[in-house]
Amino acid sequence: MHTSILVFRNFRYLKIALALIVVAVLAYVIHDPLGRPNGGTWLGYSLGGLCAAIIVWLAWFGVRKRRYGVGKLLLEDWASGHVYLGLSLLIIATLHSGFQFGINVHTLAYALMVLVIGSGAFGLYAYMRYPRLRSINRGEGALGDVWALVAGMSRDCYEIARDLPDEVYRLVEDADKETRIGGGVWRQLSGRDPNCASTRALEEVRGMAERYSGKDADAARRLVRVLARKVELLTRIRKDIQYKALLDIWLYFHIPLTVALLGALAIHIFTVFLYW
Ligand code: HEM
Ligand code: HEM
Repeated sequence: MHTSILVFRNFRYLKIALALIVVAVLAYVIHDPLGRPNGGTWLGYSLGGLCAAIIVWLAWFGVRKRRYGVGKLLLEDWASGHVYLGLSLLIIATLHSGFQFGINVHTLAYALMVLVIGSGAFGLYAYMRYPRLRSINRGEGALGDVWALVAGMSRDCYEIARDLPDEVYRLVEDADKETRIGGGVWRQLSGRDPNCASTRALEEVRGMAERYSGKDADAARRLVRVLARKVELLTRIRKDIQYKALLDIWLYFHIPLTVALLGALAIHIFTVFLYW
């Protein structure tokens, strides 16, 4: 869906965005304002109005997404237009400002707009990249009921460790009870756990297997094989959680920043008319 929105209707929305950009640039080059170009010339007002209209339309996408089958445009039209018109703002709003930035609410609105566009660009990238990586990571058969698999492996570990020295049994117990999956935002985004109890058990039991001899060495080596499979599965689960977190996280910026942008924009427009 997200690759296809880029080519949707034979790039109709890319063409519209490019046409708007060409007209805005030409008008900017041709127009001859008194003094430096700025948001207050006839062109400044026109481009500002155009940007504000585009921004309100882009923000309305949040409402449109949740209503099915209303209006003439398909959801794909909205999504495709969203991306290209959103990106075109970078140029049109910059021309509107006449490149006059300062420490004021106008520039705050501009900065928020750039942040919304930046987070949107990441979102688009995430939607195009991570679902595929997710299915590669999951492998041929879906991960399936991974928790049942992990629990099964833990049971096998206990089974083998029962006849081994206590030091091994304790590690297996830790690996079962202390292994954490998921967690806070950073842990999820990092896709790994540097203190994973199962990884620790695997490393230590591997060392012990070399020291043991006879039956114990055989059992410890079997245990290493099961623990290695468990760690491999845990790594895949953590990667899956990481991809899912990357698919979600940007919207936590995109939506609140959109709200802040609308607020700053309202103040910007209000103050310029106040001082008119
Ligand atoms: C209906 C929409 C808009 C109107 C009527 C409008 C109006 C204006 C006016 C009159 C100025 C000149 C202010 C001055 O020289 O002191 C200005 C400047 C500016 N506008 Fe807008 N604007 C609109 C939309 C936008 C949008 C959508 C953005 C970007 C998100 C934006 C960002 C800026 C910036 C960065 C400046 C330059 C500020 C400065 O001169 O220090 N404007 N705008
Ligand atoms: C000022 C510009 C923008 C505004 C105000 C804006 C606002 C929004 C809003 C309100 C939503 C709906 C979120 C939801 O409710 O789930 C949304 C979704 C989205 N936006 Fe933006 N956006 C802007 C620019 C962009 C840009 C430039 C891109 C990409 C390059 C982009 C990519 C996306 C994507 C991928 C979605 C999710 C679509 C989906 O879930 O199918 N946005 N945006």
